[in-house]
Amino acid sequence: FNLREYNTFHIDAACKYFVRCEKEEDLLEFVGSYELKPEEVLILGGGSNFLFTEDFDGVVFYPMMQGYEIVEENEHDVLVRVGSGVVWDDFVAWAVEHGYGGIENLSLIPGHVGATPVQNIGAYGVEAGECIAMVEAVDIVKAEKVKFDASECRFGYRDSIFKHEWKNRHVVTYVTFRLTRQPVFRLQYGSVRDEVTRAGEVTLKAVREAIIRIREAKLPDVNVLPNAGSFFKNPVVERKAADALLADNPGMPIYPVDDEHVKLAAGWLIEMSGWKGKGIGNAAVHDKQALVLVNKGGASGIEIAHLANEIKKSVFLKFGVWLEPEVYVI
Ligand code: EPU
Repeated sequence: FNLREYNTFHIDAACKYFVRCEKEEDLLEFVGSYELKPEEVLILGGGSNFLFTEDFDGVVFYPMMQGYEIVEENEHDVLVRVGSGVVWDDFVAWAVEHGYGGIENLSLIPGHVGATPVQNIGAYGVEAGECIAMVEAVDIVKAEKVKFDASECRFGYRDSIFKHEWKNRHVVTYVTFRLTRQPVFRLQYGSVRDEVTRAGEVTLKAVREAIIRIREAKLPDVNVLPNAGSFFKNPVVERKAADALLADNPGMPIYPVDDEHVKLAAGWLIEMSGWKGKGIGNAAVHDKQALVLVNKGGASGIEIAHLANEIKKSVFLKFGVWLEPEVYVI
């Protein structure tokens, strides 16, 4: 089965079996009929976080559960259960339209709802994990339905238990979000406040529109220049190491993590290593955001992975920091 239309780099790669499922019962029946191992399985949502460098000799699950259901509400909060196959940004638009706050800063992030707890998607000072109340999934090994509350998901920066002990073990079917009827606006990141207030009153709609404008100005449209968003994670380093780098590079952006650690901006490190707007063959570093690698047309997965490795080497030689990919390289 060709995955070209199922990965946003638009790489030609195939998998042995492709399982598209719209109903949880069907998925349970399927996993009950085969002995599946997590290492032989991939779970694909919008495909915006994968780089295929070869064909995948296993089973790709493509969960397509749909729908929104309000499962509880009071004057402050609302609990909404959403199908894992819903396009994330459709859900954000729906929430904003209904006056429910919490995820407006996560507007326009590509992908499906099912990936949000795995990846703990985040942007502009907000992470999805902060609003996730419960995750429902199908355990492919035990062939049973499972439910996790937020504390069991161990959310961290672009991280959750679904990337470690439970990697490829659970196909997420529904995610329940706790949204608020009394939004607390989070405008402190970068130019968000300026962009929102320029438009007048601060409302959920104004925040969503501002975030969309900021993203559209920097991030390439996957339909025009295929890409997977940030290719690398922003590296978390010890404060001491960051201070040493700051002494030589006073303009280097840093973000606090805890008392001993800070996060560096991988995009800045890549730009300072001379890669912004450059490339190798058909793989390139986006000219407006160096953290994004793009397929200029017809690039192979190997070509993009090669470019990523060259960038890693340059950044290490210049700054002594190893970048780690955020995308799964298959
Ligand atoms: N920067 C540069 N040059 C560049 C890119 C960035 O100097 O080419 C500097 C910026 O000027 C800024 C800092 O680096 O001072 C951070 O840049 P930006 O605000 O664009 O965010 P980022 O750290 O590059 C992260 C997320 C994005 C998210 C933005 C906004 C990761 C890996 N990426 O990027 O998420 O949209 O913050 O919150 O954490 C994604 O995951 O696909 C994604 C796009």
